[in-house]
Amino acid sequence: MKREQWGSRAGFILAAVGSAIGLGNIWRFPYMAYENGGGAFFIPYLFAMISAGIPFMIMEFTLGHKLRGAAPRAFAKLGGKLEWLGWFQVFIAAVIAVYYVAVIGWAISYLGFSFTQSWGADTNAFFFGEYLQLGDNSPTKLGFLQTHIAFPMILAWGITFAAIFTGVKSGIERASKIMMPLLFIMVLGLITRVLFLPGALDGLNYLFQPDFSKILDAKVWSAAYGQIFFTLSVGFSIMIAYSSYLPEKSDINNNAFMTVLINCGFSITAGVLVFAVLGYMAQEQAKPLTEVVSAGVGLAFVTIPAAINLLPAPYILGPLFFLALVVAGLSSHISIIEAVTSAIIDKLNWTRKKAASVVCGVGFIVSMAFATNGGLLLLDLVDYFINNVALLTSCLIELIVIGWLLKMADIREYANNLSEFSIGKWFEVCIRFLSPAMLALILITNLSNTLSDGYGGYALSDLLLLGWGLIAAMFVAAVVINLTSKPQSQLEG
Ligand code: ALA
Repeated sequence: MKREQWGSRAGFILAAVGSAIGLGNIWRFPYMAYENGGGAFFIPYLFAMISAGIPFMIMEFTLGHKLRGAAPRAFAKLGGKLEWLGWFQVFIAAVIAVYYVAVIGWAISYLGFSFTQSWGADTNAFFFGEYLQLGDNSPTKLGFLQTHIAFPMILAWGITFAAIFTGVKSGIERASKIMMPLLFIMVLGLITRVLFLPGALDGLNYLFQPDFSKILDAKVWSAAYGQIFFTLSVGFSIMIAYSSYLPEKSDINNNAFMTVLINCGFSITAGVLVFAVLGYMAQEQAKPLTEVVSAGVGLAFVTIPAAINLLPAPYILGPLFFLALVVAGLSSHISIIEAVTSAIIDKLNWTRKKAASVVCGVGFIVSMAFATNGGLLLLDLVDYFINNVALLTSCLIELIVIGWLLKMADIREYANNLSEFSIGKWFEVCIRFLSPAMLALILITNLSNTLSDGYGGYALSDLLLLGWGLIAAMFVAAVVINLTSKPQSQLEG
């Protein structure tokens, strides 16, 4: 079967940017920056972007382009029984996909509520009580399915399915060409309005004011690196799959730089947008900004609705914000599911339509666990382990494998030969020394903190089952698939 291809360079870049820009930029980045020292967070963030993000993107674009396969096939082609690493990454993507869609579902619901601000004055009680119906559940005591959460998730699955089912060029590329310009226009419209609100600049001061006491804190560095990998969609099989559809004559370096810079620029823009609104809210309520900000999920679904209540023309700005969140989330969800689908197509030689139906069907059923009373807690726990343990481990192993088992100079030469501009030796220094050293330090700190303190006050049995147990199961499944695979030389392509 001939491998599908992107229709144009712009189509590929929009799809890659669409994958990168997601909930991670609008919902996660602003509170990450705020919690980790505001302006001081930008130093580790920019350092991680330059030393890990850009080299990683170049490396994954090169692997996908050169090896013409989704992550498992690409790693298998590198030899040395590396297919398992690809499957481990595909499992990370699959797990992220099933909870990511829940947050998109919430955003779709909130898009509906935002026209009349039907979340009311107490947005905290509304989100956790009336909407999520959290009650006294736990990640393993999920309660009942909440149909009002399940329905918008079905809608999200429907859109993802339509894009994946239709194919790379006529589905994913076309969706990205509509979604990305729409997203940029909405965010630009929003930002131009909110920057002129009274108090907006105080909000920006909060975001950008450096708190240098945090710069030596390992947690800040861990947050910055974790955020970079998640936001750039690298290390969990997405960018390898996307670049495997590049035509033979395709630029690597320039495309990678563009994807990273557009994504990170968008994150900072989203941070400005959110904090301008919070500054306005603090001024309206005559409270310090620290008292109006809530972290994590709360920022988008508790604080922002409360801020929208106070905005002029809330019935326009509110829907614009939540539609932007939905669009950003959907274009990333499409890419996460594509990473899984393309791995299955490679492995089982299924048609795209069959693979898309099975992946979305199974994904949909599993994702319903997040539409229950305890769904938020399940999401919180799984998200923590996937991002702080599984994803960082996968990135570290990828760096070691590519940096030390392969000739880096060959990869650099391959990328340079195709590209408008060349990258220098710094690329090898980052991939072989700097990034693995930073990641190893961060991972060791995360592992020892989580082993000694647990996470989020959840029961040890929950952590063992849904955290450590889940990651161990993913690893074992990946190794078993690898061991039962035919050698790559016997496979076509
Ligand atoms: N890169 C995607 C995001 O930031 C997964 O949401």
